[in-house]
Amino acid sequence: MANANLSNAKTAKNDEFYTQYADIQKEINAYLDYDPDVFRGKTVLLPCDDPEWSNFTKFFAQNFELLGLKKLISTSFAPESKRYKLPYQPTLFETAQPYYSPDKTKTHGKIFVLERDITGDNRINIDDLEWQYLEGDGDFRSKEICALRDEADLIVTNPPFSLFREFVAWLTEADKKFIIIGNMNAITYKEIFPLIKDNKMWMGNGFQSGNAYFKVMMLKEYADGVYDAETGLVKFRNCCWFTNIDHGRRHEPLKLMTMAENFKHSKHKDIRERKKYLHYDNYDAMEVPFTDAIPSDYDGVMGVPISFLDKYCPEQFEILGATQRGCHDDVPDIKKYDDYWEMTQLGKPTGSSGNKTNENANLQQNDGKKNYFINKQGYIIQSAYQRIFIRKKQ
Ligand SMILES: C[S@@+](CC[C@H](N)C(=O)[O-])C[C@H]1O[C@@H](n2cnc3c(N)ncnc32)[C@H](O)[C@@H]1O
Repeated sequence: MANANLSNAKTAKNDEFYTQYADIQKEINAYLDYDPDVFRGKTVLLPCDDPEWSNFTKFFAQNFELLGLKKLISTSFAPESKRYKLPYQPTLFETAQPYYSPDKTKTHGKIFVLERDITGDNRINIDDLEWQYLEGDGDFRSKEICALRDEADLIVTNPPFSLFREFVAWLTEADKKFIIIGNMNAITYKEIFPLIKDNKMWMGNGFQSGNAYFKVMMLKEYADGVYDAETGLVKFRNCCWFTNIDHGRRHEPLKLMTMAENFKHSKHKDIRERKKYLHYDNYDAMEVPFTDAIPSDYDGVMGVPISFLDKYCPEQFEILGATQRGCHDDVPDIKKYDDYWEMTQLGKPTGSSGNKTNENANLQQNDGKKNYFINKQGYIIQSAYQRIFIRKKQ
């Protein structure tokens, strides 16, 4: 029970992390490099934000004219509705306004709109943002925010991690263009993977060297990342941008060696020493444990790490399926790789004939979270990695 509470607290707190300006700028620049008019004449919605101090609002408001935007709308979620309650103090910006309401400040969301010059300096910029309280709390699923979504051409945000699946469904049901932040593991969710497979969603340009740093608004204890006391930032492993807008990196084919070259020059000792790639027993595909070890001259199906998707170029490869977590409609559930059976979190091998080996399994090592390989002697030997199945395009 205590663990469940801790885990709930952690999940709630992990919804409260805030994106850095430089990361937003770097990501948006990648789309502009590919198509300088990508935002021109568009209405952009930034939901799940805190517009008074969010870097998303700041970036898009400051660059309103440069991007050629038609309208910018940014909305926030009421403090009282947040799953993790931060100590709340309305900002000076809010209290100084004649329409400040002590009744609404905690229970209502806010909407900030930028579309015209109100300061009279003949420019549209951050000083022209107009705000008011929303009717409701700003939940992205509310009618009020759905109407704003329907009005928008493009939606950009870092949505709450705990509602990522719902958020993506909310975007796709309205067929919207989007640029959002999520956890790379989301790739394997059964609601998300089909979108990736069908090229309806892909990885964005990405964080600097793959390292995503966020500002956290809570005590660092449960922040699911590495906290840097000096900067007050948390480094999250596995965070990435997801989008359905094109950028140049997506069309750069991976530079790969042939199979023979890999056996000679691969930086992975395993590949050089073994001089062969393993084949799955239950699926006609070749296991490729590292993205940079994908042979350029293999025409069959290959199982590759999920991090491959960050390098995925749709002109070079097609995605056929994935293992685990209910998204393996296209590959069988029974997982046997050479000598090893893959085991579920309950300690049961996923394949029926694997039950025998399970009797002696060293279940102590099973932390209940990961899948494991179990060998013929019944010992858990290593965690099983998720794989994406791909094939070279002809
Ligand atoms: C990960 S934070 C990102 C904030 C901001 N977009 C940024 O990156 O700087 C997600 C925000 O969504 C809010 N949120 C949580 N549930 C929400 C919901 N159902 N509807 C709208 N916002 C929600 C959280 O309170 C939090 O402020």
